Amino acid sequence: MRSHYCGEVNTAHIDQTVEFCGWVNRRRDHGGVIFIDLRDRSGLVQVVYDPDLPDVFATAEQVRNEFVVRVKGLVRARPEGTVNPDLPTGEIEVLGKELEILNRAETPPFQLDDEDMSEELRLRYRYVDLRRPVMQQRIMLRALTTRTLRRYLDEHGFLDIETPMLTKATPEGARDYLVPSRVHAGKFFALPQSPQLFKQLLMMSGMDRYYQIVRCFRDEDLRADRQPEFTQLDLEMSFMDEDEIMSLMEGMIRELFDTALGVQLPDPFPRMTWTEAMRRFGSDRPDLRCPLELVDVADLMDGVEFKVFAGPARDPQGRVVALRLPNGGELSRKDIDDYTKFVGIYGAKGLAYVKVNDLGQGRDGLQSPILKFLPDGAVDGILQRTGAQNGDLIFFGADKATVVNEAIGALRVRLGHDLGLMQGEWRPLWVVDFPMFEWDAGESRWQALHHPFTAPKADHVELLDSAPGDTLSRAYDMVLNGTEVGGGSIRIHREAVQQKVFHLLGIDEQEAQEKFGFLLTALKYGCPPHGGLAFGLDRLVMLMSGASSIRDVMAFPKTQSASCPLTQAPSEVTQGQLRELHLRVRKPQAEQSGGEG
Ligand code: AMO
Ligand code: AMP
Repeated sequence: MRSHYCGEVNTAHIDQTVEFCGWVNRRRDHGGVIFIDLRDRSGLVQVVYDPDLPDVFATAEQVRNEFVVRVKGLVRARPEGTVNPDLPTGEIEVLGKELEILNRAETPPFQLDDEDMSEELRLRYRYVDLRRPVMQQRIMLRALTTRTLRRYLDEHGFLDIETPMLTKATPEGARDYLVPSRVHAGKFFALPQSPQLFKQLLMMSGMDRYYQIVRCFRDEDLRADRQPEFTQLDLEMSFMDEDEIMSLMEGMIRELFDTALGVQLPDPFPRMTWTEAMRRFGSDRPDLRCPLELVDVADLMDGVEFKVFAGPARDPQGRVVALRLPNGGELSRKDIDDYTKFVGIYGAKGLAYVKVNDLGQGRDGLQSPILKFLPDGAVDGILQRTGAQNGDLIFFGADKATVVNEAIGALRVRLGHDLGLMQGEWRPLWVVDFPMFEWDAGESRWQALHHPFTAPKADHVELLDSAPGDTLSRAYDMVLNGTEVGGGSIRIHREAVQQKVFHLLGIDEQEAQEKFGFLLTALKYGCPPHGGLAFGLDRLVMLMSGASSIRDVMAFPKTQSASCPLTQAPSEVTQGQLRELHLRVRKPQAEQSGGEG
């Protein structure tokens, strides 16, 4: 039906007859001449119809935005003064000789160039939204990404192997999406939170190197970088240690950035231990583009009268940090109030600060609501340790370490963006030496920081018994500009160690058998040392495309409340279907009159 894509034609095609198919982006009547901007996924081209051909002209008068048409015409240079340098096809136009309306369209629900439409509307009419050039580019970048990743993996001996969608729960820390079984009354499949156990079984099957671009399902609180179903590039390798795995994987990401963006990432990626990342940045996925760092000052504070600082300074679970903002003295009272509100989101109860006006004047050169509470020694220590200069502002966070890390860690990145401090465009990083477990105070038990199949460091296996909290794991996360794009580990390949880790996590033998019996059995039949990782494909493409949400790089995402405005999923089903599935729907609690829910 066509000879070219719209965006392909240029001055090399002058005097050629071309045929396009596409959507009418805009039709303009210019006193006797009609201009149609024709659009397909490759771009826009301007087609001109003049009244010399009355039939064709009459058709051109009928077309409206988003009509689907076929055009035949002659490429010619645009007249002097009408060249559009912003358009790749801006030096030419097509003199229309034929025009066929392939389909009419109602007035679209929103203008394609409208920047402010609601996401609900965009998702309800996603097929219109996806016509927007920015969305087309993102979806094309996504396809280029998977193509490049597949090529790299094929070249490095990986096998693309599928794993089941109807399966048993894999613990990745979220709630499962369940699928009721019709055949087995009262039983349920779980949709996979990841193919973790299957890919380990594939290593035990001798597949050596596995990958899959695979959908994962997690029923968790949604954010800009989380969706209920999302895509992983999932990988597993046998007989490789963490250094070999990290090096192969960063090679893949380097090749991806080179191919897709023409960006050269560092070789090798820097590495940082989890402890250092938490200490300097309050985060296990530090954004290295921001030069601000947390500085511990608890030891300067444990004697002070100011309880807000002294309490956390003396608490083993507490943390007191300073964050120096160069030239932060320029911040207004209102700015500081806004930042105080911001850290409040993360549970911080306040945001103390000291403005450094003039170091030469001692205490008189400082300005702060908390200065009166701090003895000279503490003040001097803070100034020295933070390297404060005239004109700086020093923020403070004091609370449980978890709160301080989250609040001041987030403040650091926010300040970096607000004040234009971000340096360098792409800052990848491996975070390594994670603790195996974190203490869940609410439930009074250890939780796996990654997942229960992560191996402890070889010389830490004994610590599993004596000091679980000090055990480091063989896990690694790839972080890019403050986003965790991927994570994985060397796995436990000995049954006894796996049993011990289950035990520590409070999973008793019976539960371990029920949930993971097949894995424990498989470990007995010749399991190679193995490890791997999974990348969040959506997150990678989001970062690469500059989108602010993974929803913008998924063709058909869910809303923030995990529903689909386009198909109206999830939706009710018939009584008959429920009966077949042996289910009865309980009314939500609020609708029941005093019932138990
Ligand atoms: P993990 O749970 O860290 O590891 O997931 C791997 C990567 O997947 C991405 N990701 C998500 N992306 C979008 N929406 C979500 N809800 C979501 N959750 C996770 C992140 C993350 O880094 N089986 C292990 C991997 C392994 O050990 O090999 C796993 O799933 O980018
Ligand atoms: P207050 O004594 O609560 O009025 O607080 C005095 C100053 O300390 C104010 O600037 C508060 O914003 C700040 N502040 C209060 N709690 C904390 C905290 N947990 N961490 C850091 N600063 C705090």
